[in-house]
Amino acid sequence: MLLDSPDSSFSELPDFTAESYKDAYSRINAIVIEGEKEAYNNYISIGTLIPEEAQALEKLGKMELKHMKGFTACGKNLGVTPDMAFAEKFFAPLRENFDKGLDQGDLTSCLLIQAILIEAFAISAYHVYIGVADPFAKKITEGVVQDEYLHLNYGQEWLKANLDKCKEELIQSNKINLPIIRSMLEQVEGDASVLKMDKEELMEEFMIAYQDSLTEIGLDNREIARMALAAVI
Ligand SMILES: [Fe+2]
Ligand SMILES: [Fe+2]
Repeated sequence: MLLDSPDSSFSELPDFTAESYKDAYSRINAIVIEGEKEAYNNYISIGTLIPEEAQALEKLGKMELKHMKGFTACGKNLGVTPDMAFAEKFFAPLRENFDKGLDQGDLTSCLLIQAILIEAFAISAYHVYIGVADPFAKKITEGVVQDEYLHLNYGQEWLKANLDKCKEELIQSNKINLPIIRSMLEQVEGDASVLKMDKEELMEEFMIAYQDSLTEIGLDNREIARMALAAVI
């Protein structure tokens, strides 16, 4: 009996050649490529709000372009064509809010969206993915995740240094944008599970990166709890 039933435990890697895997990967891979591309654009845009930081931000942006190329190679390696139209739609609500913030010179919102929420989202997804990725993608993702911590750190440092002035804006903007992250996680849940990425684990990893980051910025436990509640209400 035991010999007849293949072990399908969660720790086992998925079949990277299965059509179902490739189908789900065409959307997940596209999300990652689009996310890296938008991250590049966002860091360049943030540089227009703090000209004295433009060079440092361009450096971060260029890392994102490198990530984009790496993940494009991951799709090619599996023979998958990324569904870019899907990914553009996936990011639209967050992109619109970022652009609105940019138009209004709202640096706090721009940094919260890109350098905290998107980076924490990327870090959590990449961490979970590393455990179930094909060997080629695993190596690339391990390199990328280290860079994303630098980017998260960049946003944290600015918000920390300016917390007196930006706390209210930060809390307000979080109320609007954190629920979008949650809905993005929900939209991707089905495809992620085909890749053996567990939704609960994704959510947990995200909340850890996000809450650690708020602690680092200097918010207290009550403020962090209030901010995190925006994800469940
Ligand atoms: Fe990146
Ligand atoms: Fe990044």
